[in-house]
Order: sequence, then C-alpha cells, then structure tokens
Amino acid sequence: MTVTVDARIRRNLIAAAREAAAHAYCPYSNYPVGAALLTREGQIITGCNVENVSFGLTLCAERTALVKAVSDGVREFAALAVVGGDQTPAAPCGACRQVLAEFCAPDMPVFYARLTGGRSVATTVGALLPQAFIKT
Ligand code: THU
Repeated sequence: MTVTVDARIRRNLIAAAREAAAHAYCPYSNYPVGAALLTREGQIITGCNVENVSFGLTLCAERTALVKAVSDGVREFAALAVVGGDQTPAAPCGACRQVLAEFCAPDMPVFYARLTGGRSVATTVGALLPQAFIKT
C-alpha cells in the first residue's frame, strides 16, 4: 500500500521544515536542517538540528521533531519533510532512519528538499531503511 499526501499538504510541510531550519543551531557545520512531521491528527511538529561543541551530542532535525512529538504524547505520524543542503537535498541520516522506523510505518511518506527551494524528493520510511532492525 502506498500512502499518498495531497500536494498542498506536501508544500505546507516543506515550508514548515524551512521555517524550522531558521532555528537551527549549527555553528560547527554551518549546515542548517529543518524537519516537519505531520501527525495523523493534522498537526505539524517541527525540529531543527542542535549541535554541540562535543560534536557527538549533536541532534539531527528529524530526531528533534520526533522527540518533541513523542514527549508531547504524539506517536501517530502521517508524513515527514526534511530540508537541508545547498546543492544536494539532505536525506535523513542513518541514525534518523532507525529512529523513524521505531515510530513510523514503512509506507509513511518522507519528502526531502534543498534548504532554499526547488523540487522535493518523495520516498518512504521503508525505502530509506529496508529490513530495519525489529525485535519480535
Ligand atoms: N543533520 C540533520 O539534522 N539531519 C540529518 O539527517 C543529517 C545531518 C545535521 C547534523 C549536523 O548538525 C549537520 O546536519 C551537519 O552534518
């Protein structure tokens, strides 16, 4: 089954991710990333990357958005948009893919685009992390 997201909702979600990227704290990489999660109830929860001088503690935008949502009691998601990158759109990193797989269905749409504009790439959580680690 493929979940479809209305083109207007997709644009709104990407716009929300771009607004979130404006809050990125990225003095070390100078690489702002924004994420916007659409909840099943139609709410948008955003996140940005938050870096740290010790580097390894850096939080990616996608995980910031997910942790904000989950800590507010929201675990049902319909789509995710991510924006980052100048020339090449930033796809979610491997760690974020595993965390997405924890909370999102494999067929959940993920859109990613460059920071400043242009077309977005459409994929799914399952396509980003096939054969994800699960415990049964
Ligand atoms: N980053 C994200 O926010 N999301 C990703 O999926 C990939 C990387 C951030 C981490 C770091 O602050 C910056 O991008 C450069 O790697």
